[in-house]
This record gives sequence, C-alpha cells and structure tokens, in this order.
Amino acid sequence: TPIAGSHQETAVPREAILAGGYHHPLLRSLQAERHLTKDMLMYPIFITDEPDAVVDIKSLPGQKRWGINKLEAFLAPLVAKGLRSVILFGVPLHMDKDARGSPADDPSTPVILATKLIRDRFPSLVVACDVCLCEYTDHGHCGELCPADQLTPAEQTAGAKVIDNPRSVRRMQDVALAYARAGAHIVAPSDMMDGRIGAIKQALVDAGFGNRCSLMAYSAKFASSMYGPFREAAGSVPNFGNRKCYQLPPNARGLARRAIVRDAREGADFLMVKPALPYLDIMSEARLLAPDLPLACYQVSGEYAMIHAGAQAGVYELRAMAMETAEGFLRAGCTLILTYFTPDFLDWLDEPA
Ligand code: PBG
Ligand code: ZN
Repeated sequence: TPIAGSHQETAVPREAILAGGYHHPLLRSLQAERHLTKDMLMYPIFITDEPDAVVDIKSLPGQKRWGINKLEAFLAPLVAKGLRSVILFGVPLHMDKDARGSPADDPSTPVILATKLIRDRFPSLVVACDVCLCEYTDHGHCGELCPADQLTPAEQTAGAKVIDNPRSVRRMQDVALAYARAGAHIVAPSDMMDGRIGAIKQALVDAGFGNRCSLMAYSAKFASSMYGPFREAAGSVPNFGNRKCYQLPPNARGLARRAIVRDAREGADFLMVKPALPYLDIMSEARLLAPDLPLACYQVSGEYAMIHAGAQAGVYELRAMAMETAEGFLRAGCTLILTYFTPDFLDWLDEPA
C-alpha cells in the first residue's frame, strides 16, 4: 500500500495539494481521460507462403510466422478473448521476388489468402492489410526504382539507385485494390511514397470501394532503428542502402506535421504515427493538426523487443511497463494501437493488476 503523504506541518497553499485526488485505486483510475479497451488494439500478424508453418521469430518473443493452414486455430482463442482487429504482413519465402514486387498482389499471395480466410471464419474481425513492396521486391526497397536511363550520368557512374515515385504509386494503387477486392476492411500503405494516399483513395473510389474500404495512412513514419526485428521476421532488409530518402528523419517535426496535414487532405480515413514511444510529441501534434481523424500509433517490433529485454534484465515488470506505454499513447491522443502485446493486453485487461 502506498504511503499517504501528510501536509499538516508544511505551509502548502491548499490548491497546491494534489495528493487528495489519487489516494485510492479507483480515484487514480478516474484521473484518466480514456482507458485502454480491447477495441483499441490491432494485432500485427506475419503470414508466410509455407501453409503449415508455425515458426518462432527469435527477436520477437512469443511472435511467430504463420502458415495459412494454422491461422484459424491461432486466432480462434484470441477472438474469443475479444480480439477485434488484425493487420496482415506477407512473408513470401518461396515466391519469385522481382523489381516491381509482383508477389504483393499475386492471387496466391499469403496476405490475400489470409484475408479471405479470416473474413470467412471470423466475420466479426476487422482485417487491415499493410500495403508495401519491400517484402516482395528482389531489392528489398518499399517502392520501384528508376530505370538506369532516367538517371543522370553522375548517378549512373556512382551506381546510384533512385526511387521511381510515380511508378511506385501506381503499383501501390494496384496492390491496395487487390487487398480491397480480397475483403480487406482497411488498407494501410507503409511505403511512404509521396502522393500515394490521394492516389489509393481515388483508386478505391473508382473501383467502388469508397464506402467499403478504409485507408489508414502511415503518415508520420520515421526512418527508425526499431524496425530490425520486423525486417528479420518479414525478410524485408534492403539489399543496399537504407530507407532514409522516403521514411522521415527522426528529428523532423516539420516534415511530420506536413505529412499529417497532407495525408488528411488527400483523403486518409485514419492517420498513424510510427514508431510510437519516441514520437509521443508527434501524436499530440497530429491530434491538433487533424482533430477530426482517428489516430493510430504503431508500437513497432523494436519497441516490443526492447520492453521484453528490459523486463528480462529485471529493469521493470513487463505488464506494468507495457501498460505504461499504452497509457502514454492514449494521453497523446491515440484511438488505435498496433502492438505485438495485443494477446497479452487481452489477458491483462481481464485480470485485476
Ligand atoms: C514495411 C514495414 C515496416 C514495418 C511495417 N511495415 C518495416 C520498414 O519500414 O522497414 C515495421 C513494423 C515493425 O517494426 O514492427 N514498409
Ligand atoms: Zn516497405
């Protein structure tokens, strides 16, 4: 039991005494503007093209790559506990990757098969599909690259590689449409190409999905050090270079603000900030810049691994720390949290702390 403070002997002005407001667990709980609920959690799931796979992802304790045949048995108990939404990532291990990321929208790609299966077996579950090319291109970048003849002589000599933005955006439209046709409730482009939100929204509207498929924009997605475990899990490490010319520089508050305003104007239904914990300031900015849009944050693979590692090292207790991060996201204004802790939270929300 915490020790209640006494202010009797000090000359504290009465309005300066805060302790009167939170001396009981219920009173502490009532200090929150909003509480974490199960419907705010979206669970990221890796699906491979090995139909019977159940493979541990070493750097993500408790997380696995799932084959399509194992998905139903995996999800059923989570749905029974109150799982409301998932976001799907494809991990093609046997498909032929190429420069345009053809396996992304191949009819037999794991994300499309999984979307159909989940819609069929779990009608109450909301299915989001991540839209990107990096898991599907032979070079591992999120967009297509410019053909050599579009490069300057200096770039050619230096062997430079440049993202072909317009071509990549057209590709993202096709991939998003393929996922919408498979039954995705939400498409979520994480590629970071300029102009893709407007283009994908238009493609959805033109194909008759304007009122049937939401667009969740990874708006403020930073070039973070915390995607390592994901890239290992998804096999999406770039073959050369890095993503610093399309993901935002971590110091760039101004670019993040512009991306948020731009994506809201281009027709996003949801905005997202990613990673989460180091970017709480950007979340509160997003609340102010786009107050009429729901806001998501992605507690990414490296954050999950870091919280686990700290708990393992005895720095804190896992549940308390995970909950503390979620409370931060809510305080900053998020209404949806993408997190690998979702199965844990489903349990923890049912058990008194
Ligand atoms: C792919 C993508 C990444 C993540 C989500 N979509 C990795 C990246 O941008 O390199 C990261 C998620 C995580 O780390 O949990 N565009
Ligand atoms: Zn990508």
